[in-house]
Amino acid sequence: MLPSTSYTRDRCVTGVHGLDEILRGGIPYGSTVLVAGTCGSGKTTLGMEFLVRGSMTGEACAHFTATEPSVKLLENIRQYPFFDMQLVDTGLINVFDMDVLYSWLGLTKATFELEDVHALIKAITDIVNTIGVTRLVIDSVTTLCYKIKSEQLIRDFLFTLGKKLSTLGCTTILIAEITSATQNAHWSSFGVEEAICDGIVVMGDAERMGHLIRFLQVVKMRGSGHSRAKYALELTPLGVMLTPMLKWGSVGDKSAQWGL
Ligand SMILES: Nc1ncnc2c1ncn2[C@@H]1O[C@H](COP(=O)(O)OP(=O)(O)O)[C@@H](O)[C@H]1O
Ligand SMILES: [Mg+2]
Repeated sequence: MLPSTSYTRDRCVTGVHGLDEILRGGIPYGSTVLVAGTCGSGKTTLGMEFLVRGSMTGEACAHFTATEPSVKLLENIRQYPFFDMQLVDTGLINVFDMDVLYSWLGLTKATFELEDVHALIKAITDIVNTIGVTRLVIDSVTTLCYKIKSEQLIRDFLFTLGKKLSTLGCTTILIAEITSATQNAHWSSFGVEEAICDGIVVMGDAERMGHLIRFLQVVKMRGSGHSRAKYALELTPLGVMLTPMLKWGSVGDKSAQWGL
């Protein structure tokens, strides 16, 4: 059983099955959370579901995609029954291609310098401000940061962006690609993302009885108590489902339950 408590509503209730219980009610409003995971661990799906759940209660959401074109992203995500294209068509979920944004801003250089980084922060915060975005996902911050010249500039970018988004009342998920999610691994590529973010959620694979089981673990969440246990993560037609690892049984049984 997931822990049950009475929760206060000073939180952004993610709506992702199990996650709000792990976070004792949700993500503190205005936080920047790093979701660091290995390839195929479900980062993009989790990020999209976070936006779907918010938009279903009328919140304006934005997704900035840097790893795949928005057309491809939507084509993949719409295969899940939990995703409703109407949310995009009616402007509740706004998907932006980072490449298109760079072109708008005239950022054609291979690597960004201080003024480029400032232009990027302004463009993102202007969009958030204009649309009134309260949930934002950047997928991935790793791909974006590869374009920024130095570690110091990456630090400034993330710190300033996080501060401005928080002031605007926006709760942000920054997706990070990592190669290993084992203990003592780094939870970011540049080493600065994890120190600057308010929260860190790690996603990866664990081997159980010959199966690769996806897991999720909350490592840090400023301003909140939370479980630090590993949870098995399943990508189901209804969205992400989290179950305590210790209670995890056979994958086949669960899959049959969801008609997979
Ligand atoms: N419709 C679907 N139903 C269930 N699982 C899916 C579906 N589509 C993709 N997947 C699973 O999701 C994985 C990719 O998840 P994704 O969120 O894109 O991971 P990441 O962003 O961490 O690389 C695929 O490898 C596949 O196992
Ligand atoms: Mg992805």
